[in-house]
Amino acid sequence: MTSIRKIGVLTGGGDAPGLNAVIRAVVKTAHNAGVSVMGLEDSFDGLIFRGKARPLEPKDVTGILRMGGTILGTVNRGDPFAVTIDTPDGTFNYSDRVQEMFRALELDALVCIGGDGTLGIAYRFHQLGIPLVGVPKTIDNDIVGTTSCFGFDTAVACATDAIDRLHTTAAAHRRVMVVEVMGRHAGWIALHAGVAGGADAILIPEIPYDPQKVADCILRRDRWGARFSIVVIAEGAKPIGGNVAVRSKASAGYAERLGGAGARLMEELEPLIEKETRCVVLGHLQRGGAPTPFDRTLATRFGGKAVELLLKGVRGMMVANRPPDIVPVPLADVVGKQRTVPLDNDLIATARALGVSFGD
Ligand code: F6P
Repeated sequence: MTSIRKIGVLTGGGDAPGLNAVIRAVVKTAHNAGVSVMGLEDSFDGLIFRGKARPLEPKDVTGILRMGGTILGTVNRGDPFAVTIDTPDGTFNYSDRVQEMFRALELDALVCIGGDGTLGIAYRFHQLGIPLVGVPKTIDNDIVGTTSCFGFDTAVACATDAIDRLHTTAAAHRRVMVVEVMGRHAGWIALHAGVAGGADAILIPEIPYDPQKVADCILRRDRWGARFSIVVIAEGAKPIGGNVAVRSKASAGYAERLGGAGARLMEELEPLIEKETRCVVLGHLQRGGAPTPFDRTLATRFGGKAVELLLKGVRGMMVANRPPDIVPVPLADVVGKQRTVPLDNDLIATARALGVSFGD
């Protein structure tokens, strides 16, 4: 086993509050163990193109704990194993280039911080022999093997604050407010922010909804005198027998972009309830801003543990939150899977008992 003297760190996929906290923890922990760190810019591009790697020392990361975004930049398109070039020749496999650059930069290991896509790429490089550890990131909270990802708590706080604000204006105008939150495959943000914000209906990708059931819930509230309602819908929610609302289709190197679930629901509801309805899409507000204390702490623990594992010779693992510990889990058990909301989830049961509609 080679001893570790220099680690590369990269951030990939959509950003999430807490990325900088992980980078800071990696740099400080490594530095205190006598290991140097190279920051790789724009995900694996930092190992494909020259001039996109820079040394990171404690002075470069001081003060970034509370900052959203990532000082290294990120991309959520592309895959070094199939880089799409805008020529008739199509795609190229740059994985050799990544391995050459890894050696040229004299790196001994990588910390790859990202969601399912980035962790999947990392796993393939692990299979090719690059020593690395993954750190799970997504506001959607849908990575398997870990009870939580940093960024999720901040996204829920943002969505809850928005719902609180919409509550007062909904009540003032006796309207129905539809709030669309992120969550492609999993409804964790909608469920948690919906319950925390006191939503009357919560629609998640795991439970296809019937618009009439949502309308019934709103009309029931009207009958006992509430006269306004809040409906939280995940971007990946769909009506029974329908599809997810897509803004643009997947194309070479780019994932399908979702959008329009809230607007579609508003159109479905209006003829059924005959009440004024407004739709608000929170979108990327949920990914921005300062991480919550929970996310800063989790991100710091993830970064510190990733370095600790590499120094112990652990490879091909992802750090995971298994309260009260941060533990390694094999990347092989994680990639290509999604941790969706189980239908027997306790929070769904609690919300149902309170009269919250899930549209089913
Ligand atoms: O995966 C996290 C996520 O926030 C999804 O909920 C959303 O569909 C996606 O990122 C949007 O990413 P972008 O707009 O950056 O392509």
